[in-house]
Amino acid sequence: MSTEMGVRRITGGDPLKGDMSVPGDKSISHRALLLGGLGEGVTSIRNLAPGEDVESTMKVLGELGVEVEDGGREVQVHGSGLGGFTEPDGPLDAGNSGTLMRLISGILAGQRFEATITGDTSLRSRPMDRIIGPLTEMGAIIRAEDGTAPLTITGSRLSGVTHRPNVASAQVKSCLLLAGLHAEGETTVVEPGPSRDHTERMLAAMGYPIEIAEEGITVNGPSPLEPIEVEVPGDFSSAAFFIAGGLLVEGSNLIIRDVGLNDTRTGFLDLVDKMGAKIEVKNRRVEEGEPRGDLRVRHSELSGVELGGEDVVKAIDELPLLGVVATQAEGRTVVRGAEELRVKETDRISATVDNLRSLGADVEELKDGFIVDGGGGLTGGTVDSYRDHRIAMGAAVAAQVATGSTRLTGTEWVEVSFPGFFEKLEELKNG
Ligand code: S3P
Repeated sequence: MSTEMGVRRITGGDPLKGDMSVPGDKSISHRALLLGGLGEGVTSIRNLAPGEDVESTMKVLGELGVEVEDGGREVQVHGSGLGGFTEPDGPLDAGNSGTLMRLISGILAGQRFEATITGDTSLRSRPMDRIIGPLTEMGAIIRAEDGTAPLTITGSRLSGVTHRPNVASAQVKSCLLLAGLHAEGETTVVEPGPSRDHTERMLAAMGYPIEIAEEGITVNGPSPLEPIEVEVPGDFSSAAFFIAGGLLVEGSNLIIRDVGLNDTRTGFLDLVDKMGAKIEVKNRRVEEGEPRGDLRVRHSELSGVELGGEDVVKAIDELPLLGVVATQAEGRTVVRGAEELRVKETDRISATVDNLRSLGADVEELKDGFIVDGGGGLTGGTVDSYRDHRIAMGAAVAAQVATGSTRLTGTEWVEVSFPGFFEKLEELKNG
């Protein structure tokens, strides 16, 4: 498969050097916009994530009657309060964003009108039954074919439920908590493992009495959300590409400033640490409920690692990149228990395996992960984004350690989360 369109020829070998930052966190930006929209006044957001996913969220909010003053990376959201959205004129478009589709569905379920939410080809093939089931149990009325978008949601009176999802998913959890804000009685989500907790942290920062306990996370119906000021930290998932590049290319030495270091997101750091990475975390602090800090990354000799279980959830978006890192580590890396990767923006297991193989890596595909036998030896070749921003950026990192040049197709997909990614990479190579 080749998505062609944007094509780049990438040569590696140059060390990555410099003092840099990455764009604002995408997960936190979606939540700041959506929760701001449900707030009782003006929420201001600084360092909002750029990229098409977050733009989709701003656009959808506008269509639901929420005023968003768009000042680029600084926006003001004029909240309309719980249940205060207005009926859109036509179908809402979540583009490529699973987070937007799942979170907004929880909100729409508790409004007083009917709305349809759809997305691009990738999003229309991703499983939505994981939210349709529990939302329907809460009293929502949702029409969808085969458990996929478009979803037509008729706002209804909701009642709280206790839901135990089979997979740990922050999108499912957040969808149900947002529906729970509009429901009568308690809504509790009991996860099989801890997924990212940005929604819970932001609800608490907005003064909502959320309960977080071993037995589950509980919201108990409407209570006003106070507007807040959010300074979005750098996106750890975007930083990860430079962390990987810095670790892999000989002579690299990087500082990445103001990166979000929420423990539910930094599994990749723990994994590369186990592999022998030389990374220092400096200036660690918590601002507005979210941990952040600066990272110094130096080229490191790495060895393979085996992972599964909770490691998977905490590093879910970085596992394809871990595959790239593993090609340069001594010995074997085994990723298991990661079947969720098959239902992301693309099938990230097969995309990772295909790309690494095209570059000359020794890699085996598993139903729920992959095995990489490392030791270097990437030759270069032709790779594709598979219409997935993270696959495109991971491939560009792999190209940095290939001996020959690499042709990457479908480069425009990086716009989903990281416009300017290739330019930033070039800047660091020129040190
Ligand atoms: C996200 C949660 C994760 C992650 C996605 C963003 C979020 O998905 O893969 O990129 O912002 O809540 P799941 O919660 O479905 O695992």
